[in-house]
Amino acid sequence: MDPIILILNGPNLNLLGEREPEIYGRQTLADIEAMCVERGKALALEVDFRQSNSEGDLVEWVQQARGRAAGIVINAGALSHTSIAILDALLAVELPVVEVHLSNIFRREHFRRHSHVARAAKGVICGFGGQGYALALEAIARLVGDKDQGR
Ligand code: DQA
Repeated sequence: MDPIILILNGPNLNLLGEREPEIYGRQTLADIEAMCVERGKALALEVDFRQSNSEGDLVEWVQQARGRAAGIVINAGALSHTSIAILDALLAVELPVVEVHLSNIFRREHFRRHSHVARAAKGVICGFGGQGYALALEAIARLVGDKDQGR
């Protein structure tokens, strides 16, 4: 069986395609999921793709990844900038984490320039729209394949 990569999406990412398309693009979350599943197959990874508007769901899913998933890709949306609970869960599961944002958070409002999630991440990919998820999967495939690089 291929290693499982959990791809988590936070609040308002269910609205992709309609929501501020000049910032987030025209791809829907379903389009991005389909792309990730396909990319995962090529990388011999099983993709488990989820979205919730609730911080509690995201914390639960991160906790459940322990012993089940090989790595986590996360776009926590606005919770990236506020949630110490998600940061603590990511630190607790001791899995490789790659953070993704569709937009380049460093050229936007000041409050988006800091991410709590980033403290738990091996690396951050932002500014490449939906393609960033494919880049994150490639990065995590390498981390999963190389035990020394893991976290
Ligand atoms: C986002 C950036 C966040 O600041 C914002 O709250 C989002 C989306 C992104 O993917 O660019 O919801 O995470």
